[in-house]
Amino acid sequence: MILSAAIIRAEDGSKLWLRYVSTKTITILCDTNSPTLAIARNELEKGWDGEAGTTIALTIKEDKTIAGDGFRLSENSIQANTELGILYGVFELLRRQQTGQTIEEEISNPSYEFRILDHWDNPDGSIERGYAGHSIFWHDGQAGLAVTENDKILWEEYARANASIGINGAVLNNVNASPLMLTREYLERVKAITEVLRPYGIRTYLSIKFSAPSLIGGLKTSDPLNPEVIQWWQTKVKEIYSLISDFGGFLVKANSEGQPGPQNFGRTHADGANMLADALMPFGGIVMWRAFVYSPSNEDRAKQAYMEFMPLDGQFRNNVIIQIKNGPVDFQPREPFSPLFCAMKKTSVMPELQITQEYLGQSVHLVFLSTMWEEFLQSDTYQEGPGSIVAHCTDGSIFLQKYTAIAGVSNIGLDTNWCGHHFAQANWYAFGRLAWNNTLTSEKIADEWLKLTFGQIASGQTEAANFSTDWTEHFLVPVKQMMLDSREAAVNYMMPLGLHHIFAGNHHYGPGPWYAPKGLRPDWTPPYYHRADTKGIGFDRTKTGSNAVSQYHEPLCSEFNDVNTCPEIYLLWFHHLPWDYKMKSGRSLWDELCYHYDAGLKQVRQFQKIWDATKPYVDPGRFADVQNKLRNQNQNVQIWKDACLLYFQQFSQRPVPEDIEPPVNNLKDLMRNDIRRP
Ligand code: GCU
Repeated sequence: MILSAAIIRAEDGSKLWLRYVSTKTITILCDTNSPTLAIARNELEKGWDGEAGTTIALTIKEDKTIAGDGFRLSENSIQANTELGILYGVFELLRRQQTGQTIEEEISNPSYEFRILDHWDNPDGSIERGYAGHSIFWHDGQAGLAVTENDKILWEEYARANASIGINGAVLNNVNASPLMLTREYLERVKAITEVLRPYGIRTYLSIKFSAPSLIGGLKTSDPLNPEVIQWWQTKVKEIYSLISDFGGFLVKANSEGQPGPQNFGRTHADGANMLADALMPFGGIVMWRAFVYSPSNEDRAKQAYMEFMPLDGQFRNNVIIQIKNGPVDFQPREPFSPLFCAMKKTSVMPELQITQEYLGQSVHLVFLSTMWEEFLQSDTYQEGPGSIVAHCTDGSIFLQKYTAIAGVSNIGLDTNWCGHHFAQANWYAFGRLAWNNTLTSEKIADEWLKLTFGQIASGQTEAANFSTDWTEHFLVPVKQMMLDSREAAVNYMMPLGLHHIFAGNHHYGPGPWYAPKGLRPDWTPPYYHRADTKGIGFDRTKTGSNAVSQYHEPLCSEFNDVNTCPEIYLLWFHHLPWDYKMKSGRSLWDELCYHYDAGLKQVRQFQKIWDATKPYVDPGRFADVQNKLRNQNQNVQIWKDACLLYFQQFSQRPVPEDIEPPVNNLKDLMRNDIRRP
């Protein structure tokens, strides 16, 4: 080991994956100038790690093989159609240098035109499902509207981080939107934010409340077909564009979880979305209309988005994009893809992923989400024949969409390390990288992120890309494997074999398979989803059950419907099965469940060991932070295992297999002390 204490400085994680400091000289040839190009030059000068004294040309030139803000990269030139393309090319070049990848002449085009972070930030600075402190955009009270120098510094750091991974949009407020956001004083702040973000290529968007015309406009109705309402929105949109000429558009949660929408006035989602789209169209704005809808009266929540939206296929304006969560329920640790993908053939659709780990241990558990998103993007829908994977159904390669887009619900806040957990930064990073290139592998993403985030300091390297064998063997390889295994571990200890939504209460952190307070909507309680009884467990979505399987194209419909062909990872999502059902392993379903919970716990214990062994390679600050988080995670995973096994055992009436460590908690205590985030 060739490390000295001087090399390993304490770190707080605030620099994210952008840690380069170069002393090498570089000559940059570029005959235009602009704020964006100035940033590009500055980054190159700060980070250049090729040969000292190199001359590099940045050229903006129309080239049909380069799409949108894509770029052509070679060792000493970057060519693009746009300034932003140059900036993205610079970040890619620096990333290659920092991670020791080769640079050959190649073109890199983005998979999606709009690559957006959705911030669920409220005007008072709180963040719905935010686990990393308060909002970076909004502060409480009237005084909070004043734009400070600190605000601007932070917004710029945020913009730079996003630009470095290709993110080009930000929805600045919660989908459960406050109508306040559309008032002048809030719009003025949106303008100020946009001015800082603009040179980094990030457009701003707002979530709107559908009833804003009556709530803040003084109208008697918000009916989308009412001429006064139409007029109100048109005037509001004009006002916004007079302040922000490149405003991106609106995100809308309508007729969902109590939010108002067109159905309150007997109108359809298409009526509502099109009315807003018409107002935005002259300015080039878009409407992202969410398909996250369900009502308590329906027999199966998983079916509802499809039932509501399929009949409207083809009725939306071409500047409307239907934003669909990856799975049919709600950002669970594992769901099959939403059957709306590729089924809506005449409407633009976009995936909505959740970067903030609402249902995956929040900012306590180490869970690398890239593998989950990769699984989703690679899922074959079969809608246009084999190979119609979700990635291609949404990026314009199967259907001609006027716009292509992808959104991720952000995990950032005012915490020093932005995300609450140092490893949660990897999820922000992964989202951006997959939005740029939806065929990247999680292995590559994790590799890049680890080298950029932990590489320079710990390997003792003098040149950024010169990673020592020692560091590679003892840090990179094991930690990368831990990241790649971490999501499956979470599935194991939370909801294996297709179980879903068995969280406690409203906080969605710990287990609560028993949680069903009197009077609560059944579809907001875990028993609705797991349906455990003395006979068995699982939600019957087969043709003789809720028939959700029929929303999938053949051969998936038959495959999911038949218990013999249904992938075991989705078994209890689609089937209600007896406790003694024989699994492919030869074990009973009950035993298999026990082994999954136990495996999850063992995996997390192993993660602790892996991390502990990295001590010589990580700065003390981040080492201790992650170590503490893993300790908490481990304690909580024990609770997940014990709670689920003891609770389900009441129904299965079977013993936990002998070679599995028996629960160490008792069920009554667990039920009394519903665990929340530590
Ligand atoms: C989940 C989440 C809510 C959020 C909703 C949405 O249900 O728990 O906080 O508002 O998703 O996506 O609209």
